[in-house]
Amino acid sequence: MRKKQQFIVAANWKMYKTPNETEKFLKEFLPMQKSFSTKIQNVFFIPAMNLSVAAALLNGTNIFWGAQNIHFESEGAFTGENSPKVLKEMGAQVCLVGHSERRSLFSETDDLCARKMKSAQGLGLAPMLCVGESLDERKSGKTFQVITEQLKNSLKLLDAQKKFSIAYEPVWAIGTGQVATSKEAGEAHLILRKALNELIGESLAEAAPILYGGSVKPENALELSNEDQIDGFLIGGASLKTESLAQISQVIKI
Ligand code: PGA
Repeated sequence: MRKKQQFIVAANWKMYKTPNETEKFLKEFLPMQKSFSTKIQNVFFIPAMNLSVAAALLNGTNIFWGAQNIHFESEGAFTGENSPKVLKEMGAQVCLVGHSERRSLFSETDDLCARKMKSAQGLGLAPMLCVGESLDERKSGKTFQVITEQLKNSLKLLDAQKKFSIAYEPVWAIGTGQVATSKEAGEAHLILRKALNELIGESLAEAAPILYGGSVKPENALELSNEDQIDGFLIGGASLKTESLAQISQVIKI
């Protein structure tokens, strides 16, 4: 059994919540944290237009927060993009890179993810790289090959001494209510950990959190969290209500 020092409970709000809703949610959620184990690390990936609301409420707390996407340059003529330099100045600690919705709807490639990982790390942000196979890829037995390739290609500019994390999110489980079994998730996490071992050596690979994402809910959180290789969750739908996010944070026993 691996000894887990902490368990990350990360909310990915996608394009949900207005500034007022963000404020209401966070003001309600902050006192709920008192009932969670101190080993739970809550993280919020906030829609870009609400980041300043999150900064005002979360800076100075033990919750980490950041953006769902960043550009690979810190500034420049990139209309409509999110600068990682601005994110850092606002007080954020983290950002998502290569979520499957960014990959499929906005054509993000592994190459682009590699550049975003580098720029985030260069500015002192801890990027969370998302990888995951489609249903067709799983059905044709390509899961391990696909996720290993995504991992290696997206980490090719990584500074392994600096903080980063990985989220394994099978595309067929995102927003579908169809969760990977703890066995399926555990196997994929082990493959990712081995690939990380090869890339950056055992001790750094062991220290890198690998989260599971895809239809995590209060009802399946305990079983998934007991899986040896799962160091946290990346949660979409069930993170939109304070009660369900708090319930997930409360059921985990590490
Ligand atoms: P879900 O989303 O929990 O709604 O499946 C997860 C994600 O997209 O990060």
